[in-house]
Amino acid sequence: MDAGGRALNQSAMLAYLRSVTLLREKVPSFDQYPFHLPAVSAMDGLDFHPKVTYIVGENGMGKSTLLEAIATALGFNPEGGTMNFSFATEETHSKLHEYIRTVRGVRKPRDGFFFRAESYYNVATNIDRLDAEGSFGPPIKESYGGKSLHQQSHGESFFSTFLHRFSGNGLYIMDEPEAALSPYRQLALLRRIHDLVQEDSQFIISTHSPIVMAYPDSIIYNLTNEGVERSTLEQTDHYMITKQFVNNREAILRELLADDEE
Ligand SMILES: Nc1ncnc2c1ncn2[C@@H]1O[C@H](COP(=O)(O)OP(=O)(O)OP(=O)(O)O)[C@@H](O)[C@H]1O
Ligand SMILES: [Mg+2]
Repeated sequence: MDAGGRALNQSAMLAYLRSVTLLREKVPSFDQYPFHLPAVSAMDGLDFHPKVTYIVGENGMGKSTLLEAIATALGFNPEGGTMNFSFATEETHSKLHEYIRTVRGVRKPRDGFFFRAESYYNVATNIDRLDAEGSFGPPIKESYGGKSLHQQSHGESFFSTFLHRFSGNGLYIMDEPEAALSPYRQLALLRRIHDLVQEDSQFIISTHSPIVMAYPDSIIYNLTNEGVERSTLEQTDHYMITKQFVNNREAILRELLADDEE
C-alpha cells in the first residue's frame, strides 16, 4: 500500500463508500487550510473498510476536516445529523469537499448519520425546534428514544442516538463518539457497532479512545505530519500511552511531575 492510504481490495465492493480521491489538479494552493495539512497534501485517496474504518492521530492533524469533507461530499450537513438536516449555526466549514471525489459501492445505504461530538448540541437544538414547529408525522425525538436530547445527560443523549436513531443498513460517520461516554459505555458502543455491522452497516470513525478503536474487523489510518499511514491498534499512540500509563503509573507520574531543577 502507498502512504496515501490505498490499502483495501478485499470485499471493498460491499462497502457503501469505497474510497475518496483528492482531485489534486483542482487544488488552488497547498499553502493554506485545509490543503496545507499533511494529511491532505500528502494524500492521494483513502480506501474504506466495508465494516469499520478508523481515522486517528494527534490533535490538529486534520481528522475532523477530513471527516467533514467526506460527509459533506455525501450530502450530510457539515454540522452533523441525517441527510435531512440543513440548519447552519457556523460557517467555518472548509471547502475540501469540493476537491474530493467519493466512490460509492453498488449498494445504497438506507440509513445514514454524521455524528459530530463537537456540534451535537446544535443537532439536539434543531430537533427540538422542528418538533416545536410540528408536522404530520410523529415527533423526530421519537427516533432518538422519545425524550428531548437536551433533557438527557451528555452521554445519555449520545447513546440514545446510537441505540435508537441508528437503524442498520446505514453509513455512519462519527467524530469522537467517545467524547461523553464512560469507559463502560465505550464498550457498549463497540457492541452497538457490532450489531449494526451485522445489519449491513459501515462506519467511518475518528476517535482518541483505544477502546472505541478496537473493533477487530477494521482498518486504522493514522494521520501524522508525514501524511496518512496505516496502523495497527497496538501501534497507535493512544493504545501505547494508555497501556504504559496503566502499567507504570507511578514511574510516569514521577517523571512527568518532577521539578525542573531536580
Ligand atoms: N476553519 C478553519 N480555518 C483554518 N484552520 C482551521 C479551521 N478548522 C481547523 N483548522 C486547523 O486545521 C487543523 C486541523 O483541524 P481538525 O479540527 O481537522 O483537527 P483534528 O485532527 O480533528 O483535531 P482534534 O483531535 O483536536 O479533534 C488544526 O490545526 C486547526 O487549527
Ligand atoms: Mg477533531
